[in-house]
Amino acid sequence: MKRSTTLTIGFLFLISLGVIVLLANQLKIDKSLMQEGSGSSAPEEKSGEIAYNPPSLDDVPEGPMGDAILRGRELINDTSNAIRAKASSVEDGENLVNELACISCHAGDGLDRDTSSLVGVAAVYPQYNERADKVLTLEDRINGCMVRSMNGQPFEEDDEDLNAMVAYLSYISEGIPIGAELEWLGKNDMKDVPVPDVENGERVFQQSCVACHASDGSGTGPNTGPALWGEGSYNDGAGMARMSKNAGFIKNNMPLGQPNSLTDQEAADLAAFILSQDRPEWKGHDDDWPNGNRPTDVMTKELRDQVKEGTIDWEKVLGKDN
Ligand code: HEC
Ligand code: HEC
Repeated sequence: MKRSTTLTIGFLFLISLGVIVLLANQLKIDKSLMQEGSGSSAPEEKSGEIAYNPPSLDDVPEGPMGDAILRGRELINDTSNAIRAKASSVEDGENLVNELACISCHAGDGLDRDTSSLVGVAAVYPQYNERADKVLTLEDRINGCMVRSMNGQPFEEDDEDLNAMVAYLSYISEGIPIGAELEWLGKNDMKDVPVPDVENGERVFQQSCVACHASDGSGTGPNTGPALWGEGSYNDGAGMARMSKNAGFIKNNMPLGQPNSLTDQEAADLAAFILSQDRPEWKGHDDDWPNGNRPTDVMTKELRDQVKEGTIDWEKVLGKDN
């Protein structure tokens, strides 16, 4: 009797031990499966930081959704041609959009981490925008670049191509948590722009930039060297028309393939030279920043004229006067 009780207890003990070991193993497997599942496509969180890991275009699904994603990619990659091809006349096409492409600034179809990446934008819009003093949807934000950076017309609310761009941007935002802080967004902003020397900017430009952007700034193509000024370029309401964003972009990305090779001073000189050349005028300056926080470094026609006349007060433009 005594012996069999001991045996039973021992037996039960062994069984429960076995169950515990099995359960623990199962948990481990589940966990590693979860990690594997998120590793290949979706970004995983590493000590609070979100990994940069957009899904491959090889994994785009077949069918209408996949078609929309691929059309969206085409529109972002070859914007001018893709949009102008739909116009009824050449003139009409030129009114719809300039010669740039989204990738002229958002390089590598928006996937290049360092050149104004668009990865994750679908997770961070709708978002309050100070320039508009409104909450903007992703559609609104795309249209913002259409009418300013692309100096063209906005898409209608239900436009198939607008939806296709959103489909593509959502695809490359897969796995990014809603509202995440993404350190690769909006980082081409030079915080403290040195007072520029426009003549030196012109010198460096002729040395280091003309091979791709042409000596008259009109460029060699949206993906080989986009138009930096002139009729084919962005208008002066675009983000790139601000000294801080232009100098920041140049410093972080140009010349192509040699990021951060220029000094802050050289980048500022270049930005001042580029932004003192003629470009299309934005008609809506008066409606921007209605809350009064208008930045002083938007290079409007008035400021371009001041550069030509030699009367520009750079300290004031760059906010160094207070
Ligand atoms: C001339 C350069 C230029 C071109 C061309 C351009 N953009 Fe932009 N885009 C910018 C700049 C500059 C910003 C603002 C980034 C910042 O705040 O620092 C921006 C912001 C955006 C944002 C919001 C990103 C964020 O971080 O909030 C989206 C979305 C966007 N652009 C989409 C597009 C699309 C789609 C196209 C083509 C139809 C396009 N852009 C063409 C320069 C450009
Ligand atoms: C080897 C070719 C090449 C050289 C050299 C080069 N760029 Fe670019 N640049 C590009 C390409 C291509 C883009 C489009 C974005 C990308 O692919 O990174 C671009 C984009 C830009 C943009 C943003 C788009 C726009 O229309 O404003 C600016 C500003 C710019 N370059 C300035 C410069 C300056 C200034 C220099 C000289 C210091 C320079 N680049 C040298 C190829 C070049």
